[in-house]
Amino acid sequence: MLVGLGSSFDVASRGEVDLCLENGARADNISFGNTIKKQSDIAYAYSKGVRLYAFDSEAELEKLAESAPGSRVFCRILMTCDGAEWPLSRKFGCEIEMAKDLLVKARELGMDPYGVSFHVGSQQTDLNQWDIAVGKAAMLFTALNEAGIDLKMMNLGGGFPAKYRTDIPAVERYADAVMHAMTNHFGNALPAMIIEPGRSLVGDAGVLEAEVVLISKKSYDEDVRWVYLDIGKFGGLAETMDEAIKYRIQTSVTGRKPAPSCWAVPTCIPPKSGRERPVTKCREPLRGVTKCAFWPTAPTPPCIRG
Ligand SMILES: Cc1ncc(COP(=O)(O)O)c(C=O)c1O
Repeated sequence: MLVGLGSSFDVASRGEVDLCLENGARADNISFGNTIKKQSDIAYAYSKGVRLYAFDSEAELEKLAESAPGSRVFCRILMTCDGAEWPLSRKFGCEIEMAKDLLVKARELGMDPYGVSFHVGSQQTDLNQWDIAVGKAAMLFTALNEAGIDLKMMNLGGGFPAKYRTDIPAVERYADAVMHAMTNHFGNALPAMIIEPGRSLVGDAGVLEAEVVLISKKSYDEDVRWVYLDIGKFGGLAETMDEAIKYRIQTSVTGRKPAPSCWAVPTCIPPKSGRERPVTKCREPLRGVTKCAFWPTAPTPPCIRG
């Protein structure tokens, strides 16, 4: 469907390159946006015709020069990710001084220094973050222009939120914020733009069904109930770590007063691969009192351990 709508694709692995190609995407509509790639995966993507790659370090750039010669490259810059529920801070990206040197080096290595990317942090609800990020990236465009390099592309990453427990700004407000940031910093000379929405496209598309294995208390006078599920951080709830992403939770139990609970998974229960199936919201009846469904609807926010 996305191919038919004229979409391009950001991939993070060799498997995703194959998935896109098998589903009719053209190689020149694929961007290998992961900044940490195996050399063999770069060579594989190149052999399949992929010619657009992200990097954020000298070592990655050298791998690209060797295995994807002459390709377009864009450098990911660091963001603080303030306001994001799931920050990606410091893991990906480099400071703009380094990005400038690396894009100059890219040219020396025979690559096509094509643009800049950033990610403002996932589940970002502070619309101002795009202005800050685009402002930083625009400084890099200027610095490189002075070095004789005319960057052509701005990759604005993801960060657009899914609706979990709280309301989020409408998508139009994000579009306005992004375009306002671009015209604020680039005027009429807008570069080509790429966005890579992730959870805002697919986060609401499925539910994760779980079974309550045990509900217990640790002492007679403690309010908090421990609710042990057969899924956990390693079985689909990774993003709940440090209580970052708070999913909506629905249960078939009705008429009982909500009470504080701490949700955990018993150790030694392997991830439920094969049983985690995406189902369309509202079409899956919850079966029995021991089932919960996680999706982006829920009463008491639990903490989730293990
Ligand atoms: C390079 C890149 N693009 C897009 C995304 C999707 O982000 P989101 O789900 O916040 O839209 C990510 C998420 O980590 C990413 O690293």
